[in-house]
Amino acid sequence: MSTKDPKDTVRVALLGCGTVGGEVARLLTEQAGELAARAGARLEIAGIAVRRPDKHPELPQELLTADVTGLVTRDDVDVVVELVGGIEPVRGWLLDALKAGKSVVTANKALLADHSAELFEAADASGVDLYFEAAVAGAIPLLRPLRESLAGDRITRVMGIVNGTTNFILSAMDATGAGYAETLDEASRLGYAEADPTADVDGYDAASKAAILASLAFHTRVTAADVHREGIADVTASDIAAARSLGRTVKLLCICERVTDEDGVESVAVRVHPVMIPLSHQLSGVNGAFNAVYVEADAAGELMFYGQGAGGAPTASAVLGDLVAVARNLVLGGRGPRESAHAALPVRPMGQTPTRYHLSLYVADVAGVLAQVAQVFADHGVSIAAVRQSDSKGSASLVVITHLATDAALKSTVDQIAKLDVVHEVVSVMRVEGEDQ
Ligand code: NDP
Ligand code: HSE
Repeated sequence: MSTKDPKDTVRVALLGCGTVGGEVARLLTEQAGELAARAGARLEIAGIAVRRPDKHPELPQELLTADVTGLVTRDDVDVVVELVGGIEPVRGWLLDALKAGKSVVTANKALLADHSAELFEAADASGVDLYFEAAVAGAIPLLRPLRESLAGDRITRVMGIVNGTTNFILSAMDATGAGYAETLDEASRLGYAEADPTADVDGYDAASKAAILASLAFHTRVTAADVHREGIADVTASDIAAARSLGRTVKLLCICERVTDEDGVESVAVRVHPVMIPLSHQLSGVNGAFNAVYVEADAAGELMFYGQGAGGAPTASAVLGDLVAVARNLVLGGRGPRESAHAALPVRPMGQTPTRYHLSLYVADVAGVLAQVAQVFADHGVSIAAVRQSDSKGSASLVVITHLATDAALKSTVDQIAKLDVVHEVVSVMRVEGEDQ
């Protein structure tokens, strides 16, 4: 690919002009002068592909098309910015674009989580760029730090809130007791939710982001299928009340860990599920559509990234940052970082991953109940960290928090406890994070 004269123009094909694409188009126009100064070339929209061109009277009509394949392979296009979402047909469009020598900027986590290897291969074959900062945590610069700034360090853990919609819902449920459905509608109205919001609520969106984060952090190909995924659909008002009464709150966390077993064998464990965290933990104060991610690395220690995780303008900021980077590479020569998957660590199954549980039970208020419950924990080799019992008429409320054990051992402990005659009800079971082990 030839470098461009600094006075040249970088021509952009914009695929999708909805919540994020609309903001990208607006900022490209409103900030044209500044962006040109930073990129070293004018960033000019060559065409905009949408599903229904007739529904976009606000856009320059001469730029609009529904022929995406035609647009991405056009000779006068340098960069394709993809803000449509979903896997097919987007995968085919982007492979066509990369093969035609166009650099690609995308916010598409679902596609990246499952197809980054073939996209990187196509980019390498053509010597072009593939940037995707906006795919994880909206406006927060997170992927570039992992791909570039921390490339000299050994990352051991990436943990945080990476889905704005579910955080918006859980924050509202905790703060006001608002209902789940009305809060989800509000998140959709504000442009945070995916086109199919079950992707948010059932944890698919966060699992895709976890796969991307783990791949970058641990130099290993991790796909969404490798991520243990649980969403927030089963989180009840009782879970949130139970958390409150214990000085905790509930968050949907993405946790990517490098785990070393007793034989010194390394693997990666990647999971997305609701957790209880103490109100004193910094993540408990991350509310609404904000995201926050901790990164732990051997030399750097602990780093925290925080900001708006969803929404049109915040996400457009990350997209435009990538676009300027691509334009600079086109102007000055050189390429951005490529795939780094040399470590190829195995993925550890969830059952073997160490976790901690909170368990809240209603039990018979009779002598020996605590001993029976404790015996089940002991039988499964699970150590108890704390127990709290409070009595009411004829029944007692029992809360148990465990130390770290394998998730499989904890699960079978809970199954066994639920079968005890003295246990009237299992009120809430949730994993715990952010406390001493
Ligand atoms: P929207 O649903 O708001 O916009 C999607 C756009 O894609 C629309 O303009 C739509 O056209 C167009 N489109 C859909 N199907 C086709 C098709 N077959 N051919 C041509 N155009 C098509 O989505 P968002 O802007 O919210 O999200 C876009 C991407 O950004 C997704 O990958 C999403 O995951 C990601 N993202 C979104 C964030 C957010 O906060 N919303 C944050 C971070 C990432 P039309 O307008 O005619 O319907
Ligand atoms: N639906 C996503 C979220 C958009 O709520 O986090 C940002 O990736």
